[in-house]
Order: sequence, then structure tokens, then C-alpha cells
Amino acid sequence: MLPHKQIELRLQQAARAVLPDADVTAVLVRPCPDPKFGDYQSAAIMALAKARKLNPRQLAADVVARLDVSPWCEPVEIAGAGFLNFRLRPGVLGETLHAALRGEHLFFATTTQPRTVVVDFSSPNVAKPMHVGHIRSTILGDSLARLFRLLGHRVVTDNHIGDWGTQFGMLLVGWKTMLDRAALDRDAIAELERIYRAINAQCDPAKPTYNLATHEAARAELVKLQQGDPENLALWREMIRLSQIQFDAIYGRLGVKFDHALGESFYNLRLPALVAELMAQGIARESDGAKCVFSDGALPPREDPFLIQRDGEWQANPQLIQKRDGGYNYATTDLATIAHRLETWQPQAIVYVTDGRQQLHFQQLFATFRRWHPELTGPVKLAHVWFGSILGDDGKPLKTRSGENVKLADLLDEAEARAFTVVSEKNAALPEAERRAIARVIGLGAVKYADLLPNRQSDYVFNWDKILALNGNTAPYLQYAYARIQSIFRKGEIPKSALGQPSGEIRLATPEEIALARHLLNFGLVLDAAAEEYRPNYICTYLFELASHFSRFFENCPVLKAEPAERASRLALCDLTARVLAHGLDVLGIETVPNM
Ligand code: ARG
Repeated sequence: MLPHKQIELRLQQAARAVLPDADVTAVLVRPCPDPKFGDYQSAAIMALAKARKLNPRQLAADVVARLDVSPWCEPVEIAGAGFLNFRLRPGVLGETLHAALRGEHLFFATTTQPRTVVVDFSSPNVAKPMHVGHIRSTILGDSLARLFRLLGHRVVTDNHIGDWGTQFGMLLVGWKTMLDRAALDRDAIAELERIYRAINAQCDPAKPTYNLATHEAARAELVKLQQGDPENLALWREMIRLSQIQFDAIYGRLGVKFDHALGESFYNLRLPALVAELMAQGIARESDGAKCVFSDGALPPREDPFLIQRDGEWQANPQLIQKRDGGYNYATTDLATIAHRLETWQPQAIVYVTDGRQQLHFQQLFATFRRWHPELTGPVKLAHVWFGSILGDDGKPLKTRSGENVKLADLLDEAEARAFTVVSEKNAALPEAERRAIARVIGLGAVKYADLLPNRQSDYVFNWDKILALNGNTAPYLQYAYARIQSIFRKGEIPKSALGQPSGEIRLATPEEIALARHLLNFGLVLDAAAEEYRPNYICTYLFELASHFSRFFENCPVLKAEPAERASRLALCDLTARVLAHGLDVLGIETVPNM
């Protein structure tokens, strides 16, 4: 077992020995923020003390008295308000690296408690282009799914496509009255968007383009669709099919796969019974002819998503589940979706990846669900993993020069084109096809990494030069570090088969070697923390630091020219670094190339 897992396990046992009723699953070990204090750190004892109103330092001392980690660590130190600091014993580093070379692990362990996790992400809307808001959901969601899978969880990915709703009334009118077939064949979503916009402008009473007859026609087409009119159903299916082709093209480029794409319409048949059930249980009630969920007063107002503060007063902020005209909405569908997922996959967690503007929706959804199924509140964790916007250089949400939403497909095209210029400047001699292949990996990697690197809850400014830079915290920099290691192997004519079979011990003599080795050991801890908090940016930061440690090592420690035992040990460090880089990038959905 990996040292950090051993330490964590022993720490949990010691905590349980001192506090027999404590839930020790949250007793975790993290990388020490400053190597001065050690390799690993735990803040968990302070949290346990706080919950029980105990003196944290005293509790820490009691736990440490029961804790034996001497096979791996120097004596444990209690610091500050009750942090525990662990420093690995010198031999442990080398032994752990050696085990990694033998293929026993790559510094992370799969979980001992596999869970089924549903990841709901991307979820674009039919007949609308995927825009940069969907890019973050797609990229973040995909990397979370990859991460959970790597850690041994059972992952179900489900694309909750927006394929139902009032927009179809307008689209049907547009299709029947103004469709340009040739345009539809060229770019279906663009044409669907055009007709949608044209009709939508006529259905908005606030606009000068308003047209009562069109508005009524759209309403009538929608009702016909909802009542199962065969012609409208066929057109609606065609619009979904055409959109799906374009979505799939993007997913193909991004290397994103879904296990399921059950759109919103999949749940239509469940909605009436669902509303009836919530009404019967008194969770929803009638208000002005509509059906809504109101606060049950169980939460303090500040934490109650069904209350809102207006003019210093708490007022009702209900969640609508059936409109006055009998129609259902986004929330109703999402409740039915939870029910379906629970029945079908029995998950222990459902993770939703959307932008931050949907926070209230999900708070209300989760609260309604807990009232509906109180028995599942503990066993099923619902998480809204939200993110901020992508901004242009002007600090406003990213738009094209003409002020339109940036389409994801165009963004990816531009990324590849710009990467091609960069690659061609560096490797003019390579055949064009090879340069294109490298540019694809670099361009897509740059876009993905730019999206994953910032704290997901903050907005970030999108800048081409910054994200494509070969030096800086970028994907190309990490891909370059990987390629550089491969070129060391090529130069030294080291066959792949020779790597991973260390003849001697791993020697960690210089400060650069030790720093690199210690950082390699942190990979698993960082993966655990990223999964725990749904923050792939931890992995980005880790990989960037890894590449930087590697650079310092490589500048200060000759590898190919070192004497044989040292050379083997240093080549082993190179190999492990390359493997962790490739694995880490793969979790982020980013590919590597052997040569760039
Ligand atoms: N289609 C929605 C949108 O584009 C996102 C759906 C997210 N998933 C969910 N279960 N509500 O904003």
C-alpha cells in the first residue's frame, strides 16, 4: 500500500480509538503546503475537535499518542491549532519510486469504497449551437468522469440534452414557413437557429417585430406537438437528429463519450404522476392556478432556497413544477430525471456540471428531492459543480467580433489553426501531415487546459497567446515537457522495454532529485483531493509543478552522461515523470505526442 494511504488508514484508526463514535471517512491526508513542514498534512483532527467542542491541540495529542506510522514517517509533529505534519523517512521515497517502476502503482490507489456516480454534463439544447458555456460543462464534466473512473468508481455519464420546451413551437412554425433546405443541408444547426430567431422575434410582445398571428401559430404548433401530432413529432425528431449529428462531431473531436443521452423529453410521460405525488405528499401546493414547492420552514432563512430577501424581508421564492396552463418545466423534468437515475443505476452520487446561473435551480431541486425522499438524503449525494464565465479581453463574456456568441466548433478550429502556426515555426522540417497531427493535439489541449486551470467558480479571460504559450502554465508546456523526456530516451537509444526495469536502487542524492521524487509521490493525494472537491484545477497545478521540478532536475543533473548506476536511477526518474504527466493529462482529457 502507498505510504500516504497507510498513514491515512492509521490516522483514521487512531481517531476512531480516541473518538469511537466519530465518522472518520473525512479524516484525510493532503500534501503539505510547504515542504518545510513535511510531506503530508492533516487538518482533520481540528475539524473533529470543532464539531465536539474539544480542545484541538489536546485531541491532536491524544490521537498522535495512539498513532504508529513509524515504518513510513519521522515522529509526527503537531503544528498550529492542531495540524498534523508527516515527514517521510528517507528510504521510503526510494522504495515507493521503485515499486512504481515495477508497475505496482503510479502513486495513486483505486478506492476501497467504489461508488456509482452519475455525471450529468455538456447538455446542450437542440437546434442551438453549442457555445462556450457548454464547452466548460463538457470539458469539466469529462475530466471529472475520467477522474472518478481512474479512482475505481463506477461512472455513468448522461447528456441531459434540452430537446423539449416552448422553443419547438417556434421552430415548427419556422420550419413550415421559412426553411431553406440548402442551408439546412450545409449547416443544420445554423439554419435551425436562423428560423428560431426569426420566429422568436415575432413572438416577443416587447419587440417591434411582434406579430400576434405568428405568436398564436407557435402556440398552436406546440400544443399539437405535445398532443402527439404525427407530423410535428416527425419534424421534432428530425431536428433532434440533425442537432445530434453536429453535437457528436464536436464530441468526437474532443474525445468525449457519453454512456447515455437521455434528453429532457425522455421524462415526459412521468411528469403528471410526479406532480400528483408531490401534491399528495403536501410537498407542492397550488398557487394562482400553478403548482409550486414552497418552504417548509425546516431551514434557517439564509439557507432556505425557497425564500428570498427583498427589501429586508424574507419572501416566498417557490419552485414551479406545473404551470397554470398545465405545462411542465425544467425543474419537473429534473425531478423525474433523479427518480429515473435512482431506479436505473442506484447511484451513490449524482453530479451536475453547469454554469453558476443555475445555482438556485439546483438548490431548490436538491431540497425538494430531500423532502420527497428523506430516506435517500444520506445514501445519495447530489452535487452541483458550477462554473463561471469565459470572458473576452474586454472583460465581458466572450463574443465574436460581430457580437455573436462564440461557437464551440469555431473555437476549436481556431485553436488548431493557431497551434499549426506555432508548430510549423518550431518544426519547419516536419511533413505537413505530421505538423497537423501535432497541432490538433496541442490546440485542443490548450483550449481544454485553459478551461480547467482556473478555479472553476471564477470567470477567466480567454487569451490565445497565453493559452498556447510554450512556457507558462499551459497544456503545450506540459506536453512539451513530456515530449522532451521522450527525446531523452530517443537520444540515449533507450528502448521502452528497458524502462520500468530498474537494475539498481533509486538514488536520490541531489536536492533536485529529492524534490522531484517527493512531488511524484503526491500524485495520488492530488487526485483524491480533486475528486473529493470536484476540482480538476488541482491536477493542473500539480502537473505544472511537476514539470517545473523536472526542469530543475534536468538542468542540474546530467542524465545520459551520468555514470551507469546514477544514469539508470535518473532515467527512472525521467520515466516516472513522463508517466505521471501523461496519466495526469489523460485525466484532463488531454493527449500527448512523443515529439513536438
Ligand atoms: N440544457 C441545460 C442548459 O443548456 C443544461 C442541463 C443541465 N442538466 C440538468 N439536469 N439540468 O442550460
